Formats: sequence, C-alpha cells, structure tokens
Amino acid sequence: MIKTVLIRCIFFLSIGILVLACQENQKPRIPMPVTNLSDISLIPKPTKTIATNSAFALDQFTAIYTSKSATGFDKVGKFLAEKLKAKINLDIPVNQETTNTIDRVIYINQSDSIVLETPEAYQLYINQDSIILNANTAEGAFRGIQTLRQLVPDVSTDTLAEQKIWPVPSGKIIDSPNFGYRGAMLDVARHFFSVEDVKKYIDLLSYYKINMLHLHLSDDQGWRIEIKSWPKLTEIGGSTEVGGESGGFYTQEDYKEIVRYAQERYMTVIPEIDMPGHTNSASASYPFLNGNGKTPELYEGMRVGFSTFDTRKDTVYSFIDDVVREISEMTPGPYFHMGGDESHVTKKNDYIYFVNRVEKIVQKHGKRMIGWDEIANADIDSNAIAQWWASEENAKKAVEKNMKVIVSPAKKAYLDMQYDTLTKLGLHWAGYIPVDTAYQWTPEEYGIPMENILGTEAPLWSETITNIEELEYLAFPRVIGYSELAWSIPENRNWEDYKVRLGDQAPFLERMNVNYYPSKLIDWKKSKFTYETIEKD
Ligand code: ACM
Repeated sequence: MIKTVLIRCIFFLSIGILVLACQENQKPRIPMPVTNLSDISLIPKPTKTIATNSAFALDQFTAIYTSKSATGFDKVGKFLAEKLKAKINLDIPVNQETTNTIDRVIYINQSDSIVLETPEAYQLYINQDSIILNANTAEGAFRGIQTLRQLVPDVSTDTLAEQKIWPVPSGKIIDSPNFGYRGAMLDVARHFFSVEDVKKYIDLLSYYKINMLHLHLSDDQGWRIEIKSWPKLTEIGGSTEVGGESGGFYTQEDYKEIVRYAQERYMTVIPEIDMPGHTNSASASYPFLNGNGKTPELYEGMRVGFSTFDTRKDTVYSFIDDVVREISEMTPGPYFHMGGDESHVTKKNDYIYFVNRVEKIVQKHGKRMIGWDEIANADIDSNAIAQWWASEENAKKAVEKNMKVIVSPAKKAYLDMQYDTLTKLGLHWAGYIPVDTAYQWTPEEYGIPMENILGTEAPLWSETITNIEELEYLAFPRVIGYSELAWSIPENRNWEDYKVRLGDQAPFLERMNVNYYPSKLIDWKKSKFTYETIEKD
C-alpha cells in the first residue's frame, strides 16, 4: 500500500486569526476510486466544473471549519453538518477543538477574491484531504453548500477502509448565478397552507438555490395575514377559501417565523397584497373599501376580476397605508408586491390613479414596489418592478419606462398549469406545461432586453390544490427546472443533459417525502439510500 505523509490539520481560531496547527504523521492514504466530478448530477448546473478524477474521503474523521470572524459562516457550517447528518447519518463536528483524530477538513472560507464579488458566488476546491469552499459572503457560502450536499453520495462505499467512506469526487467548481432574482410564488389565498407546509417548500426551493419566496397573501377568497389595526380582515376575510373549506391565516408571529426560516436559508420573502381587484375578502371584512354601499358575500368560487377597491376615497388609502406599514415592518426584504392584476371592474383612469398612490405608500414604508404587468400602464417610476405574466404589450411598456421585469410568462412558468390533459390537478387556461416545455425556453431571449430582466419567477396558484402533497405534485419537478433557468447560464442549459440530472433527483425527493409528478419523460433513478424506515418496506 502506498504510504504518504498525511498532513493532519486542526483549524482553530485565535483572536480572529486562523491558526493552522498541523501535525505530520505517517498514515496510509485511503486509495480512492476514480470518480468524475463532471458526471455528478448537479442542479442547477454550475458555471464551470473541472474534474481531477480522484475523491475526497468523507468519513468519521472529517471535520468542518469556517472563517470564524466572518458573519454567518459558522451557521452555514452547522447547516451543512445538519443536512449531512440527515442524509448519511454521519456526525461531523463544526468549529470544534477536538482531540479526536481529524484526517480531513471541509473548510468554509471567507475570501475577498475579486472573482467572488457577486454576493452569491462561490468556488469549491475538492482534493483528497480537503474541501475548500471560498465565498465572499455567507450567502455565497450557503449556495455553495447546496452544491456540496448534492455531491455527497447517498450511500457509503464500505470496501475502501475499515470505516464507511462517502467519496466526494475531486476537482474544482466555479459558480455564480445568472440572475440575482430567482423566485417562486405560492398562493396561500385560494387555499391556505400552514407555516409547516411553507417551511417545507422553502427547504426544497433553497436546495435548488431559489432565493425569493413571493407569498400571495390576499385574494377574493381569503385574507391570510393578521393586520392588527384591521382585525376583521382575518376574522372575516380569512375564514373562507375556494371550495368552502375553513380558510386560515398567519398571525404576525407566524409570518415572522416564515420570514426567519427563509432568512436562515438566504431567501427573501416578498409579501403580496393584491389590489385594487382581487379584494372581495377585504371588502367583505370592511365594506367601505369597495365604495358601492354593499357588503359583499364571502366568495369561495374561482372567478376573477369582479371586485375592486374604491380608488377615489382617502380612507381606502389610510387603510392601505396601515396594511403596507404593518407588513413592511415585519419584512426585512426590499420588496412589497401590490398585485394590480385583472382589475377588470376598475376604470382605467381609476386604476392608474390607484397604482400611483399605492406606489407612494410602498415607498414611504421603505419598500420597492412590484406589481403584475398591468402596473406598467400607470405613471410609476423606473424603480418599480413589473412581473410579466400575461401581456407582452405591458411588458414592453415596462421596458419603455426603464423598469425591471420579472419574467413569469404563464404559458411557460405557471406551476399550476396541468402537465397534460390527464393531470387531475391544475388548470390549463395558459396551456399544458409538461416537464420539457417548462424547461425548454430561454428567459433571456423572451422579448425583454437582458438589462431589464431582474430575474424569473414560477408562480403556483392554488385554486385546485388543497394540501402540501398536491402543492408538491404541481411544483415538482418543474420548479427544479426553473431553478436552473434562473441560476445557470444559457450555454450550460440543455434538455437532454438536464433530464438525466433531473432523473437523479429522485432519491433526494423521496428522502424529503416529496410527492413529485413522475413524468414519463424522465428516467427516474431508483432510490438507493439506506434509511432504516425505508429498508423495512
Ligand atoms: C395572474 O395570474 N392573475 C397574475
């Protein structure tokens, strides 16, 4: 057996300086199998991968260390350890001064390197005895550990040494996102989803580097966020949902918990209060809002475009000011989404007046306004963002106003469209979206100049889905493809290559108990992981 000198390293921190205490000893290097980093099914595909055809021997003698003086890095290291524990049941110490034998290290390093200037960029250097993850920010490190999680095999190789080894293919990965805004929207208004459901969705999305969660918090069928100054919104407006179920809402504490959970995963929550249309639940709670002198019935159907606020009444704007203020105070992210879609019973001039006034309110509370593409018809300033879902004409108006655009065309990016005519869940007003159609388009060349594109978003409307299993069925696997459209550069996106990598996601999705749609277009990999609960079956 070849004997090599192993440098056994223990990293620890002394007054902010990393001290490397290395001790040399004679130890046989574990002969690792030839593995090819480029063959691992990573999604989203990294910018550059260079394989060196050996492997890092992840085992019980591995420890994680992080740049301790860098904010957030310790937490990222712990997050990685927690996820690897869940995946392979291996305990990996994080930043511990230990007397135990440590032969190999995963080092998460804060680096000011110029190539890491965008906050989410990272580099992974995987050698036989070390994995170095370089990132400028903890956010970049967090994106990097998602890649590392995907590189660790589900099952160990038990023939290389006395202990179990999980070989991580060696080489180099250089990566940064194509778009800084990579979103998913969840409609919790047509059907309500619990905090636990939303957390599970956040976990799954963040694994694929999606970094924006847009919550559609109000619509005709339900108001889902507690507003302390207007309590009937949730008491009355939160009591229903599509189909006559009992609805529900987030207390402010619930919402803060979602925000906190997302933040831990470097995901920004974008709250949406849809107005002046889509407001039946608000007007049923406070009838002065619609200005027609009538108290509307609560609504549990699926029609759109029949409700509006009274856009010429100052008290309506006082109400909106309170709502935007209370929500903005709980929202650390920079955005507030005002909806603005399908206001079919609002006169055009009233609509424009309304959007202009709401924009001022949103700005007053320190947020940048997003609205569906219709808002491009108002006289808003270029700081506002249009989310293009339906009208190319509106999207073009947004570009003329030099606004940023979120590319979310319903025909391509709506997660609630049925996969095909046989899919029981979902709608098809924008078409059927099988898994290949969802992936095979190019947001960069869809009609909006690159400099105007903020990013992409995949909305999931919930008229037809009532629980997390149904949510997952429509979202997965398509949202995984959207993550790649948003993160990876066009040169790295290719359906034939992607569909193989997607098939290899099955063990992860099964381990996470995700009820994904098993599209026949994909050759789903058989799950090989060795969890006791699953082995029993
Ligand atoms: C929308 O789908 N009404 C934005």
